[in-house]
Amino acid sequence: MTRLNPKNPILTAIDKNNLSEAENLVSEVGAASGGIKLGKEFFTSFGPQGIQQVAGTQTPLFLDLKFHDIPNTVAGAVRAATRALAPNMMTIHASGGAAMIRAASDAASEFESSPWILAVTVLTSMDDSDLTSVGVNSTASDQVLRLARLAQENGADGVICSPHEITTLRAECGPDFKLVVPGIRPTGSDHGDQKRVKTPAEAVADGADYLVIGRPITAHEAPATAIQNILESLN
Ligand code: C5P
Repeated sequence: MTRLNPKNPILTAIDKNNLSEAENLVSEVGAASGGIKLGKEFFTSFGPQGIQQVAGTQTPLFLDLKFHDIPNTVAGAVRAATRALAPNMMTIHASGGAAMIRAASDAASEFESSPWILAVTVLTSMDDSDLTSVGVNSTASDQVLRLARLAQENGADGVICSPHEITTLRAECGPDFKLVVPGIRPTGSDHGDQKRVKTPAEAVADGADYLVIGRPITAHEAPATAIQNILESLN
């Protein structure tokens, strides 16, 4: 595991489904980023070997596979991923329940350099009516808070949250609970399909620990410069 640099909160999302494009991108942005994020599409296409090939050993790794299964299976998946890839952080769904969250965090703790277990609360693609349709009769914002508390009580290191949830979750969950935040757009950059965004400086001022940023970096003509500009905006 490559150590995280607390002074660089930028996790670059490598949303590529082509191995050599992903490798080229990581060779451009790996050193400037605080880490890289690889997720389900990439993992399902190229497996642990593809992740090793792209992530190498020099860049902290956020493995975003969002495990959700019975506790024993999630624990096994956390162990397998940690053995194979030594990620710095990885994701589970908090809606898997207390025992599943606890199983994941216990499995991570078995390793000397244990990865952070980060819980996804409510997918940002779901609104209140989507929750009702799956039998959840609270608002999305109440459900986010409920699941963040459940995650914290059961040993998760933090949550993935939207920029608009940072202030509430920081106040509710205290200073040590990690808040990892996508939906970030530097001033003047294209919002793409992200609807409710904040700038990097706003998100950090609100209390975000890490920022997951994709297209504003990866679609920039000079991705490493885009990262430097974001870091400067934080100082
Ligand atoms: O390109 P962009 O900056 O929008 O990329 C954000 C990254 O964070 C993507 O990999 C996206 O899948 C991920 N993400 C998100 N919103 C969430 C959860 C994850 O944008 N709620």
